[in-house]
Order: sequence, then C-alpha cells, then structure tokens
Amino acid sequence: MAEQGSDPIIRVRDVSVQFGATKVLDNLDLDVRRGEILGFVGPSGAGKSVLTRTIIGLVPKLSGRIEVFGIDLDAAGKAERRGIERRWGVLFQQGALFSSLTVRQNIQFPVREYLKLSQRLLDEIAIAKLVMVGLKPEVADRYPSELSGGMIKRVALARALALDPELVFLDEPTSGLDPIGAGEFDELVRTLQRTLGLTVFMVTHDLDSLHTACDRIAVLGDGKVIAAGSMAEMQASQHPWLRSYFHGKRARAVVG
Ligand SMILES: Nc1ncnc2c1ncn2[C@@H]1O[C@H](COP(=O)(O)OP(=O)(O)O)[C@@H](O)[C@H]1O
Ligand SMILES: [Mg+2]
Repeated sequence: MAEQGSDPIIRVRDVSVQFGATKVLDNLDLDVRRGEILGFVGPSGAGKSVLTRTIIGLVPKLSGRIEVFGIDLDAAGKAERRGIERRWGVLFQQGALFSSLTVRQNIQFPVREYLKLSQRLLDEIAIAKLVMVGLKPEVADRYPSELSGGMIKRVALARALALDPELVFLDEPTSGLDPIGAGEFDELVRTLQRTLGLTVFMVTHDLDSLHTACDRIAVLGDGKVIAAGSMAEMQASQHPWLRSYFHGKRARAVVG
C-alpha cells in the first residue's frame, strides 16, 4: 500500500494559493511523516492557517498537488474524499466550538456528519473522548460559555478525535492559554500521539510547544517552507528570521 512505510502521510508539492493579487503560498513543498508531531511556524500572516485549510480542502489552490494517506486529493472522487476526511480531525484556530451546542453535541458533530450511529453509541463516544482529553463526563452537558479557556481547547481536541483519526490538524491550539495551561495541553497532545499513534500537524507560535511537543519543525516564510528539521537544526540555521526567532529574547527565555 502506498501509504505504508516511510512515505509521508501528507505530501504537498508546488502548491500556490492566491487571494486577489496577493500570493500567500508560492510553490510550497512540505512532507509530514507518519507518526510525527510536526510544528509549523512562521510570522503572523505568513499563511500557516491558509496552508492548513488548503490541505483539508477549505481553500482552493491555484496550482500544485496535495497527497494525504498517499492519495492525490484532486483525483479522489466524492466517496473516496469523504473516506479520507473521516481519517483526519481538525482543531481550527478560530471558532473552536459551536456556542449553541453542548459539549456532548459538539463532540458528536463530526461523527453525525460521517456515520449513522445510535444515540447511545454517540453518547458513549462523547464521554470516551472527554475522558481521553482529561475532562470529567459531567462536562458533557455544559455549554462552551460555561467552560474555561483550557477546557474549551480540550473539548475542541476531543471533537477533533471523535472519529478516531490517524492524522490531526491543530491550528494554534494553545493560543490564549496561560503557560501552565499551554504546557499541560502540549503534554496531552504528546501522550495522545504516542498512545494512539497519531500524526499531528501543529501550527504554533509557542516556542515551548516546539521544544516539548514537536519531533520536527517546518518554517514558513515568503510563501515557502524555508527550513524543516529538528529543533537543533533550526537553532543552527543562519537564516535571519530563524536566528531571531530561535535565538531572540523569547527564545532565550525558553532555551535558557
Ligand atoms: N479567505 C481569505 N481571503 C483573502 N485573504 C485571506 C484569506 N484567508 C487568509 N487570507 C490572507 O492570507 C494571509 C495569510 O493568512 P493566515 O494563513 O491566516 O496567516 P497565519 O500564518 O497567521 O495563519 C493573510 O494576509 C490573510 O489576510
Ligand atoms: Mg493562523
């Protein structure tokens, strides 16, 4: 099978995305390897969310090719496409949860979209996922407005995991959390990745996250991936943006 072995779980080739006259992604190449947590960083507004949304098919690309699980997404028919979508989960940067739905209904939402299951099974799934992200079953009947910021992120993660995906996209999952909450969330992602064998594509601004959670880092600049590798490789880079990012004041606070 094409998706086995060392083949990347996501393969992005020559992808360009343009809004009006502005080219946000410019012949971008990126591989995400099976089983890794890839940290995706770059300046604000560089196009990290745009690439995430392009891979999952919410933003149209001008050109290029995207393969997920070894399948060219442009070549996939409707049914195959739905089959692929069932195998990934997404935590969006904005609008983490539906405010008019309970936690239980939020977690069940993607399941209902793809599977026909009994209410009893749906309820079991919601509770199992809540426990998986470290929350109590009682939280299921609350509304998002009744949750702390950290709990909202955990419920959003539970929703991303609802269909037992192999691949999870997390777009700035710890933004807005205090350092302790962010650290706990990173630990949770790490633990889930190990126990469930997940592959994680994580957009983050957080240097702590890159250190503690990520196996590899890719850096977006000028519409391309300008560097990809281990934290040590990023720190050794002479590229001006990487130098200021990984050796600047904020970096020193983390690296010591
Ligand atoms: N749907 C859209 N229409 C027009 N411009 C967009 C759209 N989505 C994103 N952009 C622009 O693309 C650029 C990259 O945005 P984004 O991917 O959100 O950056 P970030 O790296 O901070 O996630 C920004 O200039 C943003 O304004
Ligand atoms: Mg973004």
